[in-house]
Formats: sequence, structure tokens, C-alpha cells
Amino acid sequence: MLDNRLVAVVTGANKGIGKAIVRLLLSQTDKPMIVYLTARNMERGQMAFDEVRRELSRIQPHSENEVRFHQLDVSDLDSIHTFIDYLTLIHGTQSVDILVNNAGGVVHAQNGKCVSRKCDMETAHKIVHMNYYTAVNTTSLVLPHLRSGARVIFMVSALAHLGIFSGELPKVLVSDDLSLNGLHIIENGFISSVGKGTFAEYGFPPMPFAVAKAGLIAYSRMLARIFANDPRSLFFAAVCPGYCQTDMTGPYAPLQASQGAETPVYLATADAKRIQKHNGCLWKSMKQIKW
Ligand SMILES: NC(=O)c1ccc[n+]([C@@H]2O[C@H](COP(=O)([O-])OP(=O)(O)OC[C@H]3O[C@@H](n4cnc5c(N)ncnc54)[C@H](OP(=O)(O)O)[C@@H]3O)[C@@H](O)[C@H]2O)c1
Repeated sequence: MLDNRLVAVVTGANKGIGKAIVRLLLSQTDKPMIVYLTARNMERGQMAFDEVRRELSRIQPHSENEVRFHQLDVSDLDSIHTFIDYLTLIHGTQSVDILVNNAGGVVHAQNGKCVSRKCDMETAHKIVHMNYYTAVNTTSLVLPHLRSGARVIFMVSALAHLGIFSGELPKVLVSDDLSLNGLHIIENGFISSVGKGTFAEYGFPPMPFAVAKAGLIAYSRMLARIFANDPRSLFFAAVCPGYCQTDMTGPYAPLQASQGAETPVYLATADAKRIQKHNGCLWKSMKQIKW
């Protein structure tokens, strides 16, 4: 029997905003959907999957929506390939309608304190790789498998606004001439300039997390530009979830993870006519905002 349900993939979905995105996608009833809750750790992913599946069968026992679990470590190219091979086998070559690049985060010190604002080369390298390269690699490999009307969402941060950069960088980051290679050079340039202590001379702030997320905002704009004439009508967006209570931020953030999930789920499910003109843009609280 032909399965006409949409296929959604959420990375880093075993907890926090990612798990909340899975829950919210499953609770919408307009478009039947298979939601892949993915996680790098089998045990943590399986636990989250069991919990969400139980909820779904309790709340919507007859729902066509379905949650599935698959292991996916977005820092491991083999893991991404394995997952895509699996999707292709199950759903065909064009297999994905929604990709939410949610996995990411900060570096924690041994005392559990968040050190995302620490700016040494090792931290900068780790955070840029955890947030920027993981999402770019996952998206690049999924792109050929996106179905018509597919949407790709990047979870970013309000800390990554353009005003944190100086000199030529703000102009370069929004330029229509910026290529993926150029963007990689900027991110790598940040890491090495942190090592040399020269990051400020090049216009970078001492904030690895913000520089990594800014790379994703620029990437979302770039993809919208590159795929503007693609017959599949693809949609890309970068989303600031707001400051939410999760393991990344701790218990004092003003929003719940479920609130951080609202805008990405809105963009994943909204009528195409309402959002298409904002392709590649930055969003917060259900609204397109200026970068
Ligand atoms: N919370 C906020 O206020 C806030 C604000 C701005 C942006 N964000 C962004 O929103 C997203 C979700 O954040 P959160 O607050 O929900 O953080 P979180 O609770 O720490 O969850 C992060 C998730 O990403 C996963 N992850 C990390 N590296 C991964 C990898 N290589 N492969 C697969 N999964 C990986 C983690 O898995 P493990 O459990 O295995 O570590 C976890 O499931 C992140 O991109 C974050 O930067 C959050």
C-alpha cells in the first residue's frame, strides 16, 4: 500500500527542544506524518522514543502519525550515510519532507558549568564543529533526497545577530556571492584567529557559539538562493528558539522547551503560501526577523 504520509527528521531529539519538536509535530493532525526521532546515543534515543510513543498512543490512539527511532550522530559522516541509506530503502530516493537540524550545543566544564562563552582555540573548534559542520554536512547529504515542497530548518540563536561582527564580515555574510567554501573559510578563519589571538582584527566576537550559529543563518540564506529555481520548491529557515530551559541552559531560562519548538514546527507545517516569500530568512516567535 502506498504510504502518503510526510517524512520528518529531527536531529538530537532525545531531549530538550528536539524532543519537544518531535512531540509537537506528532500532535498536529492536518498532515499525517512519520517523524524520525534521531539521537546519537542508542539508549537515550530509545528511552525518548518509548516515552513519546506511549504519549502518542494515549493521546491520539487512532492517529496516522507515527514516531520512529533511528540512531544518528551528526558529527559522524558514516552515521549520516547509514541513516540516509535506510530512509532511501524504506521511503525511496526522494524520502524527506522535513529536516530539523536541531542537534548542537555548547561545551560544559567538568563542574557542569556552560563554557560556551569561553574563547580558546579548543573550545572554538569544538563548538563550531558541534553546531556548524554537523548541520551543514547533514543538510548537504540530505539535499538530493528532499521531496517536492520539502523544508529544512536550522536551530540557531539570537546571540548570532549580525551586529556581533565588525569590519567587512557583516557585508560578506549577507553577500549573494558568498559560497559554501567561503563560509567554511570564515568559520575555520575564526577558529585559527582565536588560536592566534587575532579574531577581533578580523571582525569576529569572542563567542564561538554565536559565530557557529551565524554560519548556519548564512547557510540558510545561501541555500534559498542556490535552490531558488529548483523544481522541488524547497524552503529553508533559521530559527531562534528563545532562551529555553534545557540541559544546555539550566533551570533559570524563562521559556520551556515546548515553547522553543513552536516556531520550527510552525515553519515545518505552515501553508507554503504563507512562508515561501521568506525563504532563507531568520525567524523568532513565529515571525520573520531581521538578521
Ligand atoms: N535552549 C536554548 O535556550 C537554546 C537557545 C538557542 C539555541 N538553542 C539551540 O537549540 C538546539 C537544541 O538545544 P537544547 O537547548 O534542546 O539542548 P540540549 O537539551 O542540550 O539538547 C541537545 C541535543 O543535541 C544532541 N546532540 C549533540 N551533538 C549531537 C550529535 N553529534 N549527534 C546527534 N545529536 C547530538 C544531544 O544529544 P546527547 O543527549 O547525546 O548529548 C541532545 O539531544 C541546539 O542546536 C541549541 O544550540 C537552544
